[in-house]
Amino acid sequence: MKKISVIFVCLGNICRSPAAEAIFIDLIKKKGLTDHFIVDSAGTGSWHIGKKADARMRIAAEKRGLNVLSIARQINTKDFEKFNYILAMDNSNFENINDLKNRNSSSDFASIKNIQDFRSVFKDLEVPDPYYGGDKGFDHVLDILEDSVSGFLESIS
Ligand code: 4NP
Repeated sequence: MKKISVIFVCLGNICRSPAAEAIFIDLIKKKGLTDHFIVDSAGTGSWHIGKKADARMRIAAEKRGLNVLSIARQINTKDFEKFNYILAMDNSNFENINDLKNRNSSSDFASIKNIQDFRSVFKDLEVPDPYYGGDKGFDHVLDILEDSVSGFLESIS
């Protein structure tokens, strides 16, 4: 069985994309689809490489039964050959991912999308960066990602 590979990408890989990854892992587990997927997350930036997700996100996620386990890494050119879907959290991430791809890879293997293209309940066109805000920002990120990440899974099921 060929697995479908999915990577969620934000700026630092310590807030939004680790949350999206945890939500997706939880969803496919509940649907009995774990063995069908490879799931990862990364940042466009390098500042937080090797770090656990931001404690504020881990705590907000734990409150809804989600384990955020990712260790930060930076997206690299091999990811364009490895992942079927590269899902950006905001327009800036989307542009940076495409710039990296266009400078280094001629392959169109990966489908690069904005995760909010798959929203249905929430209107947000981007996942807002919660890093410099208060705790409520982390809950909002989880709310809108629960909507759009499940919309993404439905779109490929
Ligand atoms: P993320 O949030 O992109 O959702 O992981 C951020 C984390 C760190 C920084 C910016 C955004 N930072 O500037 O260090």
